[in-house]
Amino acid sequence: MRADFLLTGAGQLVTCDPSLGEGPLGLVERGAVAAAGGRVVFAGPEAALPDLEVDAGAVRVDAGGQAVLPGFVDAHTHLVFAGERADEFAARLRGVGYEEALAAGGGINRTVRDTRAAADAQLEAAAGARLATALAYGTTTLEAKSGYGLTVADERRTLEVLARLARWSPVEVVPTFLGAHLIPEEYAGDRDGYLDLLEHEMLPACAPLAEFVDAFCDRGALTVAESRRVLEAGARHGLGGKLHANELGSTGGAALAAELGCVSADHLLFCDDQEAKALAAAGTVAVLLPGTSFLLRTGRAAPAQVLRDAGVAMALGTDCNPGTCYSESMQLMVALACVHGGLTPEEAVLAATDGAARAVGREGRVGRLTPGAACDLVVLAGRSYLDLAYHLGVNLAERVVKAGAVVAGP
Ligand code: NIG
Ligand code: FE
Repeated sequence: MRADFLLTGAGQLVTCDPSLGEGPLGLVERGAVAAAGGRVVFAGPEAALPDLEVDAGAVRVDAGGQAVLPGFVDAHTHLVFAGERADEFAARLRGVGYEEALAAGGGINRTVRDTRAAADAQLEAAAGARLATALAYGTTTLEAKSGYGLTVADERRTLEVLARLARWSPVEVVPTFLGAHLIPEEYAGDRDGYLDLLEHEMLPACAPLAEFVDAFCDRGALTVAESRRVLEAGARHGLGGKLHANELGSTGGAALAAELGCVSADHLLFCDDQEAKALAAAGTVAVLLPGTSFLLRTGRAAPAQVLRDAGVAMALGTDCNPGTCYSESMQLMVALACVHGGLTPEEAVLAATDGAARAVGREGRVGRLTPGAACDLVVLAGRSYLDLAYHLGVNLAERVVKAGAVVAGP
């Protein structure tokens, strides 16, 4: 067996493939990973390494007894935006609600104004810096949505920015069209007029640059009927469905996501047994965004026990955006998923890797260290995956590998 990448000395190898090791995380002690052409050819105990022909110029990594896990998959971000809203964040600390700021013309509307006014180069530089931070924190695959343009040209150029970032960044970018983030202010009196534009002009211009279509189905954003129209139109352009569902209220988004067979339903701060069962039956992944629920300051998180009981697959994302959660760190999301979201550390790590891969249509291709999957991994500055929840607020990604190449760290 040929290899051009060999990692040895993993004190704890987290494969996220239960068939390769112990427990749901498929843990292996004193593990090794070999890869060829960017894909894993072996993951398991170092003592069981097969006879390898290791290329002369192969990448060799000694993990020094530390923990190694798959690169994080961030299942939900709004990476491309201009400006910031630190003042709204501060107001929230003083008790002004997220929906109040939105209704007063702030919130998403404000970022839409800033984004429309920004030059392409400015948008690309800002989003590129965020992507570089995500990578330094161990994210090797990242979903990113448009949605702060809300004109044909601005939605299209947001997706073009993402396509350019995908060309130069080691991070695999999964683009989603979110022209239905909000009905923009100039269409406030003509909501159907905006949806006509979205369906007949934006989608034809944007769908070739996207894999998924998404809508913000919630109070103050789109109704269930409007979201249905957007997702169905996106499906006619070959886009898989995602939905911002039940974040601000129990608004029927989760049921819609299940009914339409969406790949994921995201947020779900309000989700009852019936909705959870429908999501499970549809195979729709629940993307939990614990940074957002924590920072909304309503004391509410997605109901982990309800989702668990129904057997809904769970994923994690940062939701990186200037309004509800300005963070690129999946490590922080793992920690918050545990201490605020009620997930076990094992559930949180699986949700940040294998579960998130499912939520972005890449199950088995990324998010696990198993033969055939991408050799994307993180060497942790710590001996156990538990450090992600326990050793808080510092970057534990000592080295990051994407497709068998070291892309961050020594
Ligand atoms: O996922 N909920 C809708 N979109 C974002 C927030 C965007 C913003 O406030 O700018 C979210 O939380
Ligand atoms: Fe979001």
